[in-house]
Amino acid sequence: MHLREIRRGIQLIASVHWERRLFDSLIPLPDGTSYNAYLVTGSEKTALLDSTDPELRHELMDPLKNVERVDYIVSHHAEQDHSGTIPELLRRYPEAELLCSSKAEDLLTSHLDIPEGRLRVVEDGEKISLGNKTLQFVYTPWVHWPETMSTYIPEDRCLFSCDFFGSHLATTDIFVTHKAQVYEAAKRYYAEIMMPFRGIIHKNLQKLDALDFDMIAPSHGPVYDDPAFIVDAYREWISPTMKNEVVLPYISMHGSTGIMVKYLIDALAKRGVRVHAFDLAVTDIGKLAMTLVDAATLIVGTPTVHIGPHPAVYYAAHLANLLRPKLKYAAIVGSYGWSSKAIEQIAGLIPNLKVDVLGTVLHKGVPTQEAFAQLDDLAQAVAHAHERDENVKTV
Ligand code: FEO
Repeated sequence: MHLREIRRGIQLIASVHWERRLFDSLIPLPDGTSYNAYLVTGSEKTALLDSTDPELRHELMDPLKNVERVDYIVSHHAEQDHSGTIPELLRRYPEAELLCSSKAEDLLTSHLDIPEGRLRVVEDGEKISLGNKTLQFVYTPWVHWPETMSTYIPEDRCLFSCDFFGSHLATTDIFVTHKAQVYEAAKRYYAEIMMPFRGIIHKNLQKLDALDFDMIAPSHGPVYDDPAFIVDAYREWISPTMKNEVVLPYISMHGSTGIMVKYLIDALAKRGVRVHAFDLAVTDIGKLAMTLVDAATLIVGTPTVHIGPHPAVYYAAHLANLLRPKLKYAAIVGSYGWSSKAIEQIAGLIPNLKVDVLGTVLHKGVPTQEAFAQLDDLAQAVAHAHERDENVKTV
């Protein structure tokens, strides 16, 4: 897309990927995405912050055709959606120096064709003058990879945060105009790639507290001209506070598990517990990840396949284990035909989740009144656990 000014001398070059529906061959993108680069023109020197995914290289290279000189190319993050076009940029601008964090040097040179002598490591806190603008580098690790850094320009009170605060959203908007839409996309993004690193994100936010900024320019999605909106959202997502909610991924083969799950949803709702249920046969795994950000309890529903859980449940449990949400409680419900070790196997899949198991209900065949009574007991145990936990907001 054409160059668009976000501050005097700072232009956004957004490569908008309207049609992309999957990231890393894993993460659903219901609203597409964008890869943002920023051209910073100082009174003496010019810098380009990040590049774009090679698939959309023309979206970056075409708007640059009248830009004759770039002195610095800053790589905030070595993942190729931001770095993949850097080799072409280095050929286009032979005078440009590639700047990156100390951990990025190895990642960039092992993933991309970076010519010898073109890369320079910048230290955390280091400043480089462009004349009337200063690039100040801030190491912000693990948002998304260990090498990730941000750039702060004090003269413009602007922070360039790369994946941090980003949202997968294809849009023509320069700035956030529909906060609810961006909140949803940013939360989904946080859940999918950053949730396991809450402790480090807390430190990164503390570091950013020392900077006086009133704009955040991420490398995905629109620019925040009201940054408190997204910073406050991140503070809430990483806080110990949970919601009075259950995430309930399940699947059913011949209906028994489905009947149990529907009964349990109703039993929880009667007790004031909000439920996010996901039929894993059809669900959007990103939406499931997003609900794990706040929920206090995970309940897994599975039929039995070859004495273990259904493979789709394996996948969902493994994903929850990788994402390390802050939830405190768990339970397993399901059915079987002749024998089952589904409960033991699911429990073995989630060692990262430091949860209290509130109950298990495993029933042979079609659920009976006895199974429904057990599900009522489970719903009651969940409601009580939430009420007693000071970190669970029940209103
Ligand atoms: Fe947008 Fe981790 O790359």
